[in-house]
Order: sequence, then structure tokens, then C-alpha cells
Amino acid sequence: MTDRYAVIGNPVAHSRSPWIHAQFAQATGQDMEYVRIESPLEGFAQTVDDFRRRGGCGANVTLPFKEAAYRYSAVLTHRARAARAANTLQFAENGVLGDNTDGAGLVRDLVSNLGCAMAGIRVLLIGAGGAARGVILPLLEAGCAQLVVANRTPARAAALAAEFASNERAHPLSATGFDGLAGASFDLVINATSAGLSGAALPLPATVFGRDALAYDMVYGHDTPFLAQARAAGARACDGWGMLVEQAAESFLLWRGVRPPTAPVLAALRAV
Ligand code: ATR
Repeated sequence: MTDRYAVIGNPVAHSRSPWIHAQFAQATGQDMEYVRIESPLEGFAQTVDDFRRRGGCGANVTLPFKEAAYRYSAVLTHRARAARAANTLQFAENGVLGDNTDGAGLVRDLVSNLGCAMAGIRVLLIGAGGAARGVILPLLEAGCAQLVVANRTPARAAALAAEFASNERAHPLSATGFDGLAGASFDLVINATSAGLSGAALPLPATVFGRDALAYDMVYGHDTPFLAQARAAGARACDGWGMLVEQAAESFLLWRGVRPPTAPVLAALRAV
């Protein structure tokens, strides 16, 4: 019988996940289907319950339901717990496993696709919302020497860093407002804010982009003022298509036990 998966969100019509997973299934010979499900804003748990009853094996969860998916899960992976959000659910007889593959997807894109050696580098993570929280633990685990979380509202950055205080890997982590970035310089600058979606630029000193720095915007599908700022400062600028494809591959690996090839999928998405 064909195994059934879905991406659940609201809105969800724009999601590329069905196409991405169809490519993965074809490349690895997996018998599965993957559909979009738009959940009512107040009805996430019921939507998932219904899908499970109809034989669903697992789901990806996108905005605005990642925290609801975290609460829905009976068992959480350590990376979902650190993110306080789940983007991947796996259904089993004895309950639902909640995972978060966003951070692993980002790190895999950085390391495998973009050739960024993470060990010992200085990383600036801009933003203190759910997108930033989701990638902190995987960035720390990748071995960066310094991880500075900078946010427009400094108290939010401090609160986010404090959440990781008890983690044994948290020593490279610190928090600041944008003012605190004067004179600082980084090897990797990641934009995890939603500023680019509204076309807003970030008040970053050009000096944050160190020599040969990589600038990464988690947003995909359109150029952002952040990437333009980075290029103007001489940095290499990358959008979030690779993170999208790699987080999908991590979910696919969890569900199917096989890692799909991502390069052709990424190339096809970029070519559109
Ligand atoms: P998400 O879950 O996608 O991270 P969020 O929790 O609403 O969404 O967080 C959005 C992030 O983008 C926050 O860090 C926000 O900064 P504040 O905490 O100061 O609100 C940041 N952000 C959004 N628009 C911004 C802008 N124009 N300039 C700077 N930061 C911005």
C-alpha cells in the first residue's frame, strides 16, 4: 500500500514540499504520496487526528503550526525540544514523534552544499523568533567558536540565549542588540528575521561581514535587502533554497530510512 504523508500549514498552497518529496521518492524508489493539507487556524490537532485516521504515516508542519505540532507530539527529539517547535511528525501505534529538521537542514546546506567549515568559526545569527531558536542547537553542535544572537529587541535575544544556558555546548553563545555589533566581525552571518519579507533592511555595520564571509538568508524565492547589503560588503550571499531542500531530506530520512539526493532538486528549484 502506498504510504501517505502531507505538509500541514495555513496558508499552504505555495508549499514546494509535495514536489520536493515526489522527487525524493522517485530517486529512491519509495512507494509514497505526499499532499498539501490546509488546517483551520484553530483546528491543528483535529486536522492531524483526521489525517492519521485516514492512514497518514507522517507530516511536515509549516507556519503557523510548528509550536502546535510540538505540543501535539508524545515524544520529542532533542533538537525539537531545543527548538520548542516541530516541523516533522512521525505517526506510530504508540504515539507521535515530533522532530525538528530545520537546523540540521541549514547546517547540511552550509557544510555540504556551500563548503562552509563550521568548526572554530565566528557566527552571527540575526533574529530571536522561532526561526532563530530552531537553528541554535545544530549550529552549536557543528562546533562554531562563537555564536552571537543579535536582535532589534535586545531583551528577546538575551531571553533566547538564556534558554540554552544549561546546555553543555552553550559556551560560544551570547546575545546583543544591533548597537553591540559595532567593530565585531564574523565568518558566517545568518539572517533569521522576517525583515526581508517586508523589504526592510537591517541596520548592520558593514564590518560584521568579515574577510571571505558567507551571508545566508533563510528566506528563499526572492532577493532580500540583507543579501544586497552582504554583497555590497564583499560577502558571498546565499538564499534559503538549500535549507528548504535539506530540511525536507532530513524528514525523508527519518520517515523512510534513506537519505535522498538533494543536488538535482535544488538545481531544479533554483532554475525556475
Ligand atoms: P519567526 O518565528 O519567523 O522567527 P517571529 O517570532 O515573529 O517570527 O520573529 C521575527 C524576527 O524578525 C524577530 O527577531 C524580529 O525582531 P523583534 O524581536 O525585534 O521584533 C525580527 N524582525 C522582523 N522585522 C524586522 C525588521 N524590520 N528589522 C529587524 N528585525 C525584524
